Amino acid sequence: MRLCLKKASLTCLSGLRRGNRGSGVPPTLNLCRESQLPTLRFHLTGTKYSCGSGGCGACTVMVSRYDPKTKKIHHYPVTACLVPICSLHGAAVTTVEGVGSIKTRIHPVQERLAKCHGTQCGFCSPGMVMSIYTLLRNHPEPTPEQITEALGGNLCRCTGYRPIVESGKTFCAESTVCQMKGSGKCCMDQEEKSFTSRQEKMCTKLYNEDEFQPFDPTQEPIFPPELIRMAEDPNKRRLTFRGKRTTWITPVNLNDLLELKTSFPEAPIIMGNTAVGPSIKFRDEFHPVFISPLGLQELYFVDSTDDGVTIGAGYSLAQLNDALHFIVSEQPKEKTKTYHALLKHLRTLAGAQIRNMATLGGHVVSRPNYSDLNPILAAGNATINLISKEGKRQIPLDGRFLEKSPEANLKSEETVLSVYIPHSTQWHFVSGLRIAQRQENAFAIVNAGMSVKFEDGTDTIKELQMFYGSVGPTVVSASKTCQQLIGRKWNDQMLSDACRLVLDEIYIPPDAEGGMVEYRRTLIISLLFKFYLKVRRGLNKMDPHKFPDIPEKFVSALEDFPIETPQGIQMFQCVDPHQPPQDPVGHPVMHQSAIKHTTGEAVFVDDMPPISQELFLAVVTSTRAHAKIILIDTSAALALPGVVDVITAEDVPGDNSYQGEIFYAQNEVICVGQIVCTVAADTYAHAKEAAKKVRIVYEDLEPRIITIEQALEHNSFLSAEKKIEQGDVEQAFKYVDQIIEGKVHVEGQEHFYMETQTILAIPQEEDKEMVCTYVTLGTYLFQEYVAAALNIPRNRIACHTKRAGGAFGGKVSKPALLGAVSAVAAKKTGRPIRFILERGDDMLITAGRHPLLGKYKIGFMNNGVIKAADIEYYINGGCSPDESELVMEFMVLRSENAYYIPNFRCRGRPCKTNLPSNTAFRGFGFPQGIVVGEAYITAVASQCDLTPEQVKEINMYKRTSRTAHKQTFNPEPLRRCWKECLEKSSFSARKLAAEEFNKKNYWKKRGLAAVPMKFTVGIDYCSMAAALVHIYLDGSVLVSHSGCELGQGLHTKMIQVASRELNIPESYIHLSETNTTTVSNATFTAGSMGADINGKAVQNACQILKARLEPVIRKNPRGTWEVWISEAYKESISLSTTGYFKGYQTNMDWKKGEGNAFPYFVYGASCSEVEVDCLTGAHKLLRTDIFMDAAFSINPAVDIGQIEGAFVQGMGFYTIEELKYSPEGVLYSRGPDDYKIPTVTEIPEEFNVTLVHSQNPIAIYSSKGLGEAGMFLGSSVLFAIYDAMAAARRERGLTKTFTLSSPATPELIRMTCVDQFTDMVRLVRRAPC
Ligand SMILES: Cc1cc2nc3c(=O)[nH]c(=O)nc-3n(C[C@H](O)[C@H](O)[C@H](O)COP(=O)(O)OP(=O)(O)OC[C@H]3O[C@@H](n4cnc5c(N)ncnc54)[C@H](O)[C@@H]3O)c2cc1C
Ligand code: FES
Ligand code: FES
Repeated sequence: MRLCLKKASLTCLSGLRRGNRGSGVPPTLNLCRESQLPTLRFHLTGTKYSCGSGGCGACTVMVSRYDPKTKKIHHYPVTACLVPICSLHGAAVTTVEGVGSIKTRIHPVQERLAKCHGTQCGFCSPGMVMSIYTLLRNHPEPTPEQITEALGGNLCRCTGYRPIVESGKTFCAESTVCQMKGSGKCCMDQEEKSFTSRQEKMCTKLYNEDEFQPFDPTQEPIFPPELIRMAEDPNKRRLTFRGKRTTWITPVNLNDLLELKTSFPEAPIIMGNTAVGPSIKFRDEFHPVFISPLGLQELYFVDSTDDGVTIGAGYSLAQLNDALHFIVSEQPKEKTKTYHALLKHLRTLAGAQIRNMATLGGHVVSRPNYSDLNPILAAGNATINLISKEGKRQIPLDGRFLEKSPEANLKSEETVLSVYIPHSTQWHFVSGLRIAQRQENAFAIVNAGMSVKFEDGTDTIKELQMFYGSVGPTVVSASKTCQQLIGRKWNDQMLSDACRLVLDEIYIPPDAEGGMVEYRRTLIISLLFKFYLKVRRGLNKMDPHKFPDIPEKFVSALEDFPIETPQGIQMFQCVDPHQPPQDPVGHPVMHQSAIKHTTGEAVFVDDMPPISQELFLAVVTSTRAHAKIILIDTSAALALPGVVDVITAEDVPGDNSYQGEIFYAQNEVICVGQIVCTVAADTYAHAKEAAKKVRIVYEDLEPRIITIEQALEHNSFLSAEKKIEQGDVEQAFKYVDQIIEGKVHVEGQEHFYMETQTILAIPQEEDKEMVCTYVTLGTYLFQEYVAAALNIPRNRIACHTKRAGGAFGGKVSKPALLGAVSAVAAKKTGRPIRFILERGDDMLITAGRHPLLGKYKIGFMNNGVIKAADIEYYINGGCSPDESELVMEFMVLRSENAYYIPNFRCRGRPCKTNLPSNTAFRGFGFPQGIVVGEAYITAVASQCDLTPEQVKEINMYKRTSRTAHKQTFNPEPLRRCWKECLEKSSFSARKLAAEEFNKKNYWKKRGLAAVPMKFTVGIDYCSMAAALVHIYLDGSVLVSHSGCELGQGLHTKMIQVASRELNIPESYIHLSETNTTTVSNATFTAGSMGADINGKAVQNACQILKARLEPVIRKNPRGTWEVWISEAYKESISLSTTGYFKGYQTNMDWKKGEGNAFPYFVYGASCSEVEVDCLTGAHKLLRTDIFMDAAFSINPAVDIGQIEGAFVQGMGFYTIEELKYSPEGVLYSRGPDDYKIPTVTEIPEEFNVTLVHSQNPIAIYSSKGLGEAGMFLGSSVLFAIYDAMAAARRERGLTKTFTLSSPATPELIRMTCVDQFTDMVRLVRRAPC
């Protein structure tokens, strides 16, 4: 086998060869299959493993192949987790290490991504680098659209994508990164800008393009000549790779392929492996033989004739895209309608990597029910050219083929040679239509391919075809409907009949997989309506006299939202010109690890080399929500090769249940996903295989409580009620003009950190010591849980954490629980344990943000003044306490947000249910709770005929006041953020423009909303911090502190603090890791206080050291730092010290419901504008403006990064992120396929962020903690969507108020924009035939 891996070490290649000889490495092993097999990742740490299903892009690498026919080299991106190693014979693979490295030279792509602040945790960064790099290899001067397109398959949970796109745009031919878009002046022409209102100097440059090294495309490594020689070798032979259980065969030519297909008719043909790969991995499919004709010349061609085009089955979807673009540029428009329809869907089908891997043949044959291309191909009358040893034949790519009728199928020995797509004709219309949870890289909720042929010169239907995807187990044809409409005129009556008929023909049962039955049925006819309008428009274009055009108000229904490249301005305070140039505080300093992130040299736990004797752990989790464990039978698992042990509750030497958290289920299970036992084996594959063999017998127990409503019925709570109250609420209700009551549902959220939970537990020989390396926010909790489980003192447990690939609250308590689970396994086996959760297990076990049910009763005057509010909160805490009580406390305390309501009561309780235990998540309850407040403000506005913004203004805190829990604060920064947000975003003018737009457009509506925010930092019991600072004799400084680096730039800010305090350059300071042996009893890095409290601790340590050095400096004021250190050493001055910050002084008396609960408040405001498609429920975020009170930002790049990242995470939470459970409590959403976080296409087209300057003397350098605050500002998108939906409903004469819930998914939007189609679906409910 010949594979050129840039930077591959010899050992690795020998590892591969070993695999080929069948010594344990199966031929189907993917290039980056199991994170637990680092050897097979060639000892390279760059290529990350996050989902394993091709859905996140973290594992992106570049594959290059030489085409002997064209003599060209083809570079393309792939997701390594789906690439079988054997398929790479003859290819060169470039990983991020091959692009550049700190040890040699970093590549401009890596440099710019880092310097543009495009990395935070850095886990996605190598994948991002590879996507941009591969694009540059093909297009050295790409367009901004190409950059956005190239990044569509890469998920980032931290940054909000804006800086990543911006780094890519620096390679575009024209400078497109001007941050002063629309101002008439380029940011590069001016250093700073004044705010006219306050004459405050504002900067807009977060990085300096002049510092970038030039990009020279000629300097890229050459393609290995040996691979060219190999590709051109006329004497190629069939290749066979044999593994223990499987054989991989690559035929040498077409005849050989046909021979193989005859010998192994059941063997799959592996092309892109994007259908077969996931089936093997997630559905346990097994194939003893694989045939891979990838690269076989006979399958790669385009043949264009007068009637149509034939495209080789081997063409990747990306190549198909290029070929179709070429054809549409050559052919007259009327012939290319099918190609245009295909091109539209090819742009959004998966991400660039999958489009480059998946092939036309594979797509057609695998016939996924969600297929975006097959319905169009069928509607366009495509045919499939088949070949076997028997000869060639053609079959139609029609309804029977797509519905998998046996008689219309391929024979098992046949291969698809090509697909023929006929040209469309003059009186022929073809369209592709689709709607997905997110615009790009998401399976369609419903899609369709439709075509109609008319009798020449008329609108009489001659042929009609409609194919729908995602409405059943296969793509289905509405053939009966079409048949009945032949001969009909293309008019409204025909449409009405067609809708009725198609609803009757396509039945989606109430319990259909994927749910959303009513919505999907509505889409069936909404998409048909879109097609109807498109065709009418087309007919009108052909003969305007004969065929009337569609109403002007309907035109906007025709087009899907375009994908635009995002842009925007970031503004922040300029550094005082008198500040010493060496002092980095206040400057947008790059993340301390940014370059290492982009080169892949930043080490995450999974990247750590194998440890001698280490074992891998796989979990066995409960499949029942509430049941008694009758039996755990481990015998079959223990009998499997490589299995060392099965660990259960019986093996826990200490407490198995600590603070209400159960490590291993004992006697009973209390949720689906609870860990019952773990299997330790020599490889992860063995452990996983054995885990499947553990047999558990359950007996279901009652009650099984899944929802909040069920918990309320059963009075099932995790803690007592929390309440705050001011004024006399009951009395006030008697004197108000109006009272409204309502309910708000806010669903939960998955953290979806890119790096899943990972732990390395290494038992030591002596004194029961245990060394743990893991990803967390709280080392002390981890230590505490492990100590409890092992029943040993905490001083025996050394915990290390270097960096986490994202956390967002999900790595506070859960790593502690998983740490205890792994430590018990390590203790029992006496061997190191590597425990890495697969994405699906991670999502299942660790849960996320608490879903909320909010109830309100509001009394208000007709002028919009709210006099009384009575709020109730119930959150779904899941099966154990975790942080639920604390989350509820925070929710209640922050419930008033920015509004003064003289008579205010808020009560809340966390519910105990049989779901996995929900936990901390960025914003800690605030993002859910505050939706209730904004919902009733919106409802009040509607009742008073005011805008929500007017009601907000009327009720907003205006002067120094006391909160409902009686904490005094000055809302001046809040008012400033709010005012500037409305003014600078031209809110009123744009609102008017949106109203105008809405008047002119019936099917698309625009909405705007602005939300103010009064957020709090801090968690009272964890605001102390410690630091340890050593100065070494060469002057270098090592800083350790109690905070964990999660991507939020904490270490970067700490270096800035130490640099200022010690008055030395940042380069002198190093920060290695957080561990319990240097800083003990470290509290969580949470509550947006990481930099606040650790900054004070580092400052304290540095000031102590500085004071010690003072006499030495005074003696030699002109000396250098190095000389002073040397002198100090000679004078026996200690150059090492700890620093401490005892924390903010806060208090809260829950009996009285009052206290100074928070050290300070963070204020902000955001305004968003959206457009919604009332027919599909899709929305487009047009613009967002954020004004955040940052006081004095220690690092504007880090702070803006946090705000943007949190905003996008919030936006995802409020719109597209949707966790789905069965009524039995089984989580369905277990990976990127069925849980959609925002991609680059979801972020605002225009995204402006301004840091507003204020004072905050209590915090270090008068800064503020901004890690979480941006999350809630994402709700401006939710309320803008509601504004748009309200406009649609007003126009349709519907009630003014309607129930608000979150997330505003496409389903919710569509079903709220009630119209004749939703009515029709509700009327036409029928039983299956
Ligand atoms: C992350 C991800 C996202 C996706 N998103 C979308 C999406 O948004 N929309 C969408 O429509 N699809 C989507 N897909 C599905 C994707 O389009 C298909 O998996 C792909 O087209 C299959 O092609 P392949 O070359 O990878 O097939 P393979 O997996 O290699 O093969 C699939 C099947 O086809 C057979 N086969 C392949 N070639 C031939 C041939 N020449 N002759 C006979 N049989 C053949 C094989 O035997 C096998 O049974 C997605 C897939 C992934 C992994
Ligand atoms: S790990 Fe490969 S795409 Fe997610
Ligand atoms: S920086 Fe992208 S996932 Fe963390």
